[in-house]
Amino acid sequence: MLSFDPMNGNDQKSGGRAFATRVVHLGRDTGPLNPTATRPDGQGRPVAPGMQLATSFSFGTADALDDAFEHPDEAYCYARISGPTTDQFANAVADLEGLDGGVPFGSGMAAVHAALLGAGLGAGDTVVSSQDVYGATHTLLGTVLAGQGVRTHLVDFQDVEATQSLIARVRPKAIFAETVSNPLVRVADLTAIGEAARSVGSVFIVDNTFPTPYLCRPAEFGAHMVVHSATKYIGGHGDMTAGVVAARADKLPALRLVARLTGATLSPFDAWLGLRGLRTLELRLVRQFANAMAVATALAAHPNVARVHYPGLPDHPHHALAASMFGDRGFGAMLAFEIREGGMPDARLVLDALRLVLPAPTLGDVYSLAMHPASASHRGLTPEDRARIGIGDGLIRLSIGIESANDLIDDLMQALDQLPSRH
Ligand SMILES: Cc1ncc(COP(=O)(O)O)c(C=O)c1O
Repeated sequence: MLSFDPMNGNDQKSGGRAFATRVVHLGRDTGPLNPTATRPDGQGRPVAPGMQLATSFSFGTADALDDAFEHPDEAYCYARISGPTTDQFANAVADLEGLDGGVPFGSGMAAVHAALLGAGLGAGDTVVSSQDVYGATHTLLGTVLAGQGVRTHLVDFQDVEATQSLIARVRPKAIFAETVSNPLVRVADLTAIGEAARSVGSVFIVDNTFPTPYLCRPAEFGAHMVVHSATKYIGGHGDMTAGVVAARADKLPALRLVARLTGATLSPFDAWLGLRGLRTLELRLVRQFANAMAVATALAAHPNVARVHYPGLPDHPHHALAASMFGDRGFGAMLAFEIREGGMPDARLVLDALRLVLPAPTLGDVYSLAMHPASASHRGLTPEDRARIGIGDGLIRLSIGIESANDLIDDLMQALDQLPSRH
């Protein structure tokens, strides 16, 4: 049962305040108010965060500009290097993740790439990655990073023993995990992987896009860097593209260097939308998680569904692990289901029959979304690679939104009813 106490928000407290309170106020100007109610400039304080769009900042003297260039982490100078709104946003995400600072990026993939480079990977180095990471991450490791001489070992992170022994054997420079994998919503045992990373001194990078820091904070399991596609739950409304790497202090200089040299800059407007999205993060998630549980239960009972992948279902193999990592906050709003004896044409038929759930290649929005991994997120993989990971042609991924659960269930049931019964 999900518990939500509006007085306390939830039990993830930091700085004495609950998550629910912090998301509402992060990024706002919260400095002390002048007790005489007049600020030096005679203005009141804006309640909402502002947006700074300037490309560059001017300085009173040539020496001051010189000093700003010399210390790019201490002064705003040029928008590709850093900016107040984008920093505010990335630092807000880092605060929620319990990490020292955040670096903003123009997309989640830019953040994934930067985290890998920021870990210091170069020719001759090795990465151990979960085999069922997001398709583009999988392809990035196998093409761009491989082209630079970085060798990736893929392993099934569900097989803890195999993962631990691979890590002990190859002693990778970096380990890359997704807390909850895409699209099979498998939960990684971050305690075991974190311990293995620590034992060989690897940089532990976790993509925490699916659960968000509301559900899980990988830094508590030893992650040095936590990556987000903020395009998803953090933005939440399907109208911005952004990435963040939240990191421990010692990793921040390398990340900032990669950010400013590769130029995967986040737009201040998208950062501002991200800050706005954060304010309702917990409210949205509580509703989405409850909806997802209801939808997963209904799908599991449909005769044309062979299997539902949702860790909230008591018979799911990762149910106990998820409960131990996520507490009583829920099991996320992502799920996937396999059409019984279903192939590509069946999946397309179901997607085409949906009237409310939107077929779209994203997730985490307030709208419910359906996606066919074999022809969208994982189309870059060979059919053999997809089969090895467990992504069949009849698999459909759902990102559950904030609509009425009954309306969502009605829509999915009528779409599945279009298939000939395979009971
Ligand atoms: C888990 C995960 N990480 C990273 C990304 C990449 O994010 P973006 O599309 O913002 O580049 C995605 C995109 O779907 C994702 O699902």
